[in-house]
Amino acid sequence: MTDRYPPIHPKCPHFLHGGDYNPDQWPKDVWAEDMRLMKLAGCNAMSVAIFSWAHLETAENRFDFSWLDEVMDLLADNGAYALLATPSASHPAWLSAKYPEVLRVGADGRRRGHGGRVNYCLSSPIFREKCAMLSAKLAERYQGHPALLMWHVSNEYGGDCHCDHCQVVFRNWLEQRYDSLEALNAAWWTAFWGHTYTDWSQIASPRQLGENSIMGHQLDWKRFVTDQTVSLLLDETTPLRRITPDVPITTNFMGTYTGLNYWKFAEHLDRMSWDSYPAFHDREEDWKIAPHVAFTHDIYRTMKGGKPFLLMESTPSSTNWMPVMKLKRPGVHRLFSLQAVAHGADTVQYFQWRKSRGCAEKFHGAVVDHCGHENTRVFRDVAEVGQVLSKLDDVVGTTVRAEVGIVYDWENRWAIDASAGPRGEKRDYEPTCVSHYRAFWSRAVPVDVINMDCDFQAYKVLVAPMLYMVRPGVQRRVEQFVEDGGVFVSTYWSGIADESDRVSAGGFPGPLRGVLGIWSEELDVLHDDESNRVAFVQPNPLDLHGVYKAETFCDLIHAESAEVLATYQDDFYAGRPALTVNAFGRGKAYYIASRNEPAFLTALYGKVIEGLGIRRVLESNLPEGVTAQLRTDGRREFVFLMNFKPHGQYVDLGRDKFTDLLSDRSLAGEMKIDGYESIVLERTATGD
Ligand code: GAL
Repeated sequence: MTDRYPPIHPKCPHFLHGGDYNPDQWPKDVWAEDMRLMKLAGCNAMSVAIFSWAHLETAENRFDFSWLDEVMDLLADNGAYALLATPSASHPAWLSAKYPEVLRVGADGRRRGHGGRVNYCLSSPIFREKCAMLSAKLAERYQGHPALLMWHVSNEYGGDCHCDHCQVVFRNWLEQRYDSLEALNAAWWTAFWGHTYTDWSQIASPRQLGENSIMGHQLDWKRFVTDQTVSLLLDETTPLRRITPDVPITTNFMGTYTGLNYWKFAEHLDRMSWDSYPAFHDREEDWKIAPHVAFTHDIYRTMKGGKPFLLMESTPSSTNWMPVMKLKRPGVHRLFSLQAVAHGADTVQYFQWRKSRGCAEKFHGAVVDHCGHENTRVFRDVAEVGQVLSKLDDVVGTTVRAEVGIVYDWENRWAIDASAGPRGEKRDYEPTCVSHYRAFWSRAVPVDVINMDCDFQAYKVLVAPMLYMVRPGVQRRVEQFVEDGGVFVSTYWSGIADESDRVSAGGFPGPLRGVLGIWSEELDVLHDDESNRVAFVQPNPLDLHGVYKAETFCDLIHAESAEVLATYQDDFYAGRPALTVNAFGRGKAYYIASRNEPAFLTALYGKVIEGLGIRRVLESNLPEGVTAQLRTDGRREFVFLMNFKPHGQYVDLGRDKFTDLLSDRSLAGEMKIDGYESIVLERTATGD
């Protein structure tokens, strides 16, 4: 069965390579040089006009598209494409001056002055009207233009607005959601501290000098802000869809930014895109950062059901906004670019093409440095990626097939972060999910990173660490998954609350108690320098041994129908269950009661993978810091072998035969992979 997505646009059946291009910051004589350099760098796709509103609409209703016409023509004449932006992220000074209501009001209740970017009210009718008009004008003007490949809507939507108008819209949104104040008061548990509302007009957004003690209120505000932002996106995209129905639409997201539930945008976009800025060579070593980046890539692929996503921004060298941002060491640019591709990106794009001479980002990495020519290390690194991508046409549109799904759910994160207690810091939902993910990544097992609304039946293993919030329907779907033979894994601090953050009555883990076969009576929390120990009982059905460190969270559980696989060793709960498994229908449900050191997860998941015969991209054990990821169309298999450690290591390719797509050499058996090396192999035969 072949299973290949079409390219982003049929015009360009290749990888996209390029980035944010701001010719409107530069005199025209630089533009021709840009075109020459783009060809040298193997760049074929530029994001243009992202921050150009002031240059496109120079005064209210006075438009100047002449410069953009020239840029679009230049790109087309030079065989390149435009990811043409709607410029809403940065609005012109004249707009703020004439319509001050377009400016955002902060959580401190104060209206911001003009400046910066993403400084607009999410609800302002005049702002939305202007955005929709600009979208229509751009679409009318450039429909049919040979350079137009895709719409890049706005830039990194984010934040919220607390103005009076947003308050009204929020109240309307709440009325829609709850219908009655009684229902809202019940959902928010407002009887607490006598916070009961008796009129809709009494409700305001959670603000610094206002209500901050109702978690259901906070969750609904975040849901509202997400919905408002989606509706702004729709105002921007409706004219684009009408006028250019064949031009795909995306907007660039910020990884796991918590302010918006990105899943809600997916259905309104043709592709997901994200901007990736890991802190290379920082306090955390690259091989530890790599699974976190991989995890985020997998979110963006999974959000569109496996459809290739866009790496919309990455830095060719360093950023300027991190406290310390080191230069990428040789090999690292190619490595992290190919990592995105390995997880399903059909693009490698940068911020930014040319370093600006002034303002806030003049020292941010760029393909073309201030020296203005191609004789730089960074330019050569970029050109190398261009070369590599040009050899990977066959990979375009292929996807990743995962047998493992890890739940990382935005609303769950909101609830965990908002929760008062049981420990102020180190709740660490995201790092916890990543630590579970890493156990699969290091074994070359592809993973989908899903949310709790996704179809679980597609997987053999479903891992839901810290599933604090359990939304309606999830209990039934988890039970069905396990009944049908799936393996479910959850941890401490799960099944605690519903979608309004009302705590489960009748014993934790609430709706998951039946499937997990345990009762959590109490949760102990430890200081950073404290720990307990967890040891496997002997014998145990997984044949696991050893003692592991438990930190931060130690759940004190009773095994009800579950079997105990490991126990605590210290403190008053020594001997109590620390890992359990419950047979449920044809499947099993594991409960990990404490936050254990990574080696524990590696050992446990190793057995789970083995027991279920989960397919690994390479069957041999990979050295630390090396992973192999697979893209396929169901027929051809492209294996990305990546070493995130700075020194060379040996990898056993097993009995399969491979062709290195970049050098055409044939490979089999043991091979050396250099420090920071990344190679793309096609599996040509499976030995048996
Ligand atoms: C992104 C943003 C870009 C640029 C970049 C710098 O978040 O979209 O416009 O500011 O960061 O790293």
